[in-house]
Amino acid sequence: MDEVEIYAAIGEDGFKRLISAFYRQIPGDAILGPMYPQADLKGAEERLRDFLVGRFGGPMRYVEQRGHPRLRMRHARFPVDQAGRDRWMQLMRTALDAAAFDAPVRHLLEQYFEQTATSMMNRRPVESESQS
Ligand code: HEM
Repeated sequence: MDEVEIYAAIGEDGFKRLISAFYRQIPGDAILGPMYPQADLKGAEERLRDFLVGRFGGPMRYVEQRGHPRLRMRHARFPVDQAGRDRWMQLMRTALDAAAFDAPVRHLLEQYFEQTATSMMNRRPVESESQS
């Protein structure tokens, strides 16, 4: 299976189930909860969902409404360190479990999220024992 075939496989409903299962966990999360806009969680959910739909072969709503994704730039105002990245992945894995996609879809999505979440990191932990 190719990445761009995922939309045809799981449809609008698949992305909706995945991303709502992800965002359900945000408000109660000690690391991510405070980072996300509490007054506009629905909007945040829609932005991530629309981006992924376009990225995986569906309608390009995100790009039409918000322009080039420039994901790293859009995350620059949030301090994303290893702990934040790992927590984000943990919540996304829980959401992938809940969505229960077929194995090839699950595998491709998880691989994509792992790599992209790592590329979003823009902070290192404080190096208190640095030699230099
Ligand atoms: C696979 C990894 C990720 C993808 C594909 C992704 C994607 C996105 C997208 C498309 C947006 C909306 C940007 C906009 O249009 O303004 C967004 C917002 C955001 N992301 Fe990420 N992100 C990822 C990882 C992370 C990580 C690791 C963190 C923090 C640890 C994070 C925190 C946030 C926050 C706080 C927002 C603002 C919510 C909003 O108002 O939309 N993201 N992300």
